[in-house]
Amino acid sequence: MPGLQHVAIIMDGNGRWARQRGLPRIEGHRRGVSNVREILKVARDLKIRTLTLFAFSVENWQRPPEEISSLMGLLEFFLERNTRELVKNKVRLRVIGRPEELPEGVQKKLHAALEATKDFKDYVLQVALNYGSRTEVLDAVRAFSEDVAKGKADPNHLDWPLFSRYLYTDGIPDPDLLIRTSGETRISNFLLLQCAYSEMFFSPVFWPDFGRQHFIDAVESFHRRQRRFGKTGEQVTEAPTDEAALNR
Ligand code: FPP
Repeated sequence: MPGLQHVAIIMDGNGRWARQRGLPRIEGHRRGVSNVREILKVARDLKIRTLTLFAFSVENWQRPPEEISSLMGLLEFFLERNTRELVKNKVRLRVIGRPEELPEGVQKKLHAALEATKDFKDYVLQVALNYGSRTEVLDAVRAFSEDVAKGKADPNHLDWPLFSRYLYTDGIPDPDLLIRTSGETRISNFLLLQCAYSEMFFSPVFWPDFGRQHFIDAVESFHRRQRRFGKTGEQVTEAPTDEAALNR
């Protein structure tokens, strides 16, 4: 679909979905994982080339240990059950965050899935794991400084295209649309720099219930909007956006 290549999602509301039904929180996460499969299918049907899902934040380590280990177990389960499907559909898996700090079992499954899908070019499933935007900026600044010290980078020539190569999302276009479910209207340290020009869609629906039609509604809302990238409404209809101006 022209204009919509990348959708990023903050999948929120699993806990409240479960509480409303008198179920343990983990049941909400379990339903959340099965919804990931459904949304993957819809995104593919709509030919959206990149889907980014916020699965575990750097702040999520503060949750009760039982919930963290259940979430890690679900991630392993998801990777084990879906790698074959990703290969079949030619979807490349990518991870953003600090996966090296995840439990070994998750890392192993991740590694296998990343390897199995690494050559696919058309579709990308990007999973944010142990991710935080501020951590990403710190990691990027550290890597850039190291390159400066080695004489491989010049701070006098630092511009956005160069700096963005040090972000976890290197090579991936910015999200066109950011969806957050569950009625919360925050970005919560997710892709803060990459969402500089993204359209936002906040849905009141809890993630386990955010199905095909909800996703399509979000996409349709995106297509009704006019993206101005700093220009006036009249200019946008008259001339294409100057990419260079956005990259200063
Ligand atoms: C937010 O709900 C959800 C999470 C912190 C975890 C999201 C993870 C998954 C859906 C599963 C793993 C993902 C993949 C890609 C397999 P919450 O617990 O904050 O809900 P609440 O705000 O209602 O308590």
